[in-house]
Amino acid sequence: MNLKDTINQYDPTKPLAQATTPPSAWYTDKAFAEVEQEQVFANNWLIAARVDQLQKPGDYVATDVAGQPIVLVHGEQIKAFYNVCRHHAAQVMETGQGCTKALTCPYHGWNYKLDGSLATTPLFEGVEDFDKLDNGLKPVRCEVWEHWVFVCLDDNAPSLASFLGDLYGQIGPLIDGDMQFYKRVSYEMDCNWKIYIDNYLDGGYHVPVLHKGLNSALNFRQYKVETRDRYCLQSCPTKASDNEFAKVRTGTANYYWQYPNLMINLYEGIMGTMIVEPIAVDRCRVIFDYYFDEDNPKNTEEFKSNSVIVANKIQDEDVAVCLSVQKGLASKGYETGRLSVAKEAGEHLFHRLLHGDLKGV
Ligand code: FES
Ligand SMILES: [Fe+2]
Repeated sequence: MNLKDTINQYDPTKPLAQATTPPSAWYTDKAFAEVEQEQVFANNWLIAARVDQLQKPGDYVATDVAGQPIVLVHGEQIKAFYNVCRHHAAQVMETGQGCTKALTCPYHGWNYKLDGSLATTPLFEGVEDFDKLDNGLKPVRCEVWEHWVFVCLDDNAPSLASFLGDLYGQIGPLIDGDMQFYKRVSYEMDCNWKIYIDNYLDGGYHVPVLHKGLNSALNFRQYKVETRDRYCLQSCPTKASDNEFAKVRTGTANYYWQYPNLMINLYEGIMGTMIVEPIAVDRCRVIFDYYFDEDNPKNTEEFKSNSVIVANKIQDEDVAVCLSVQKGLASKGYETGRLSVAKEAGEHLFHRLLHGDLKGV
């Protein structure tokens, strides 16, 4: 089957009660994954860094976004560039973060200012038709929202505010106190990135079955799923219980997913983000960032550390099932499945948005 047929095997017009999941080739076909990188990741706004990493002039973050080397720099303001030297294409800044006076290429020493303009080019006298003004680092669109710096590789995409839509004004009021970054934990796992998102978006369907510990801290009967243009909110009140989960998860759980690959989890005094990046068709990375409200006296070092331990346990349960699903999707015994009307509206939204980005291929 060619790629176009694979994409259009999914029917986005079917309402949830009639919908199927996308065909398993969406999760196993290498060519599909390549097109997805271009149509989904390079065309939408993605988080590239946290604002706290770029607080003062000279701070930079060099990273990959949609498979592209990107550097974010705080000069007069935060800007993003392709992290590619205009001389012979070496990455100007090594992956990571730091503070610098200028961006100096480690290959032949070309030097760029913090605003991306080319300052000096050693041993380049006599080169004709060469203007430094035309040889600054290539800029990438970049906008800040709440705690994060987003980039978009598509010059024609709408603004970040319009991309986030309703979500734009929602997160700020829910982040109480002085929410400070605490720790990053990254996982790599052998499954397609969409399996992890599907798992997140199943409206808590798997929680009582797979996460018995977490389930004992949630008032599961009140679990709600709401979908909007490009995001889904799953929310559920927590309940008091004498276990390690309930001790570190209080208030209302608000689980936001924003297309394509961002999740923001909020509890009382706690925020966690998860960013899912494809590495290969059957491998992905999930980056967890944990934040705690420093004004909240309950957020002691012990509390923070226990909170991350509990999240790791839940993650281990999710990873095991995601690997199992990847194996199942690659088997001859599965093509597509159906969705729970009560629970799986978030997945339905995700699949339709993907189809929307892919249908022009
Ligand atoms: S590739 Fe950067 S200076 Fe040559
Ligand atoms: Fe889970």
